[in-house]
Amino acid sequence: MSENDFISVHTKVLCVIGYPIEHSMSPIMHNAAIRDLNLKYIYLAFNILPRNLNLAVDGIKTFDIKGINVTLPFKQKIMKYLDEVDPVAQEIGAVNTIKNEGGYLSSRNTDAEGAMKALLDAGYKVSGKNVLLLGAGGAARTLAFMMAKDSNKMVIANRTEKRAEQLANEIKRKFGINIEGKNNSIRVLKEEAKKTDILVNTTPLGMYPNIDKSPIPAEFLHKDLLVFDVVYNPLKTKLMKDANEKGCNTLGGLDMLVNQGALAFEWWTNRKPNIELMKNKIIEVLGML
Ligand SMILES: NC(=O)c1ccc[n+]([C@@H]2O[C@H](COP(=O)([O-])OP(=O)(O)OC[C@H]3O[C@@H](n4cnc5c(N)ncnc54)[C@H](OP(=O)(O)O)[C@@H]3O)[C@@H](O)[C@H]2O)c1
Repeated sequence: MSENDFISVHTKVLCVIGYPIEHSMSPIMHNAAIRDLNLKYIYLAFNILPRNLNLAVDGIKTFDIKGINVTLPFKQKIMKYLDEVDPVAQEIGAVNTIKNEGGYLSSRNTDAEGAMKALLDAGYKVSGKNVLLLGAGGAARTLAFMMAKDSNKMVIANRTEKRAEQLANEIKRKFGINIEGKNNSIRVLKEEAKKTDILVNTTPLGMYPNIDKSPIPAEFLHKDLLVFDVVYNPLKTKLMKDANEKGCNTLGGLDMLVNQGALAFEWWTNRKPNIELMKNKIIEVLGML
């Protein structure tokens, strides 16, 4: 297909909205999948000022944008404008994917599904495990809701202790499980790491350009840990390198990222994208940064 065949009056628009949006990998992986399947779609990225979110939702309907990914800081705030929120997203209280059918906006949280798929595909089960979750922001919320139900115990450790406590209390109220919110002091990290089977980092510590940072001192890691770092840029963070040196299994954020994208793509287009191609495109681009 030539460029003119893709871009015509029949081209359907998909997009991601966020603020800031400059670092999003979504256009790269989605457009690669679109081209691979010869679909008449295009995927764009829009930087939306937070005060303009309501106008952006009107724009989605006005311009008949068929599929929308939602990223920071709108995953919770956009929910009040939607006609339908699926049960998983409702439980978590955040959405990242919207489908527009003639102005009717339905939504899902494919971050959550994508993260659990990444863990399962890599052969890891959460059932009966002790989980230490670092961070209490958007990604932490998604991971906490998905993992806490199956875990034996979860501790959320965050720079702002109150946020960790609030998230833990919310989950405890919903599921009645063993979960605590704490601060991320050296003392807490040292004590909790000893009792942990799965360590999940949802803070941006270690993310490009601060690649020499890690959310936990290397000496607290032990060989029986699975370390899941949701950061995907760089593909191998300092935390993952430290963990590998200690003999731990590690999982990076790339699979979660690609899985959430692939689930959204299939929902919008009814076509299965080539996940390996999407993944390789991101690796190619990150390798060039
Ligand atoms: N792989 C994927 O598909 C995927 C999906 C979503 C997000 N992510 C990645 O996950 C990371 C977090 O994203 P998010 O949306 O959850 O962000 P967020 O909502 O802003 O939350 C960030 C969390 O990290 C903590 N934090 C930030 N800076 C810190 C520092 N210097 N020291 C200690 N803690 C710090 C914050 O603590 P306070 O509460 O104290 O502010 C907060 O709990 C980003 O790197 C993002 O790229 C990956």
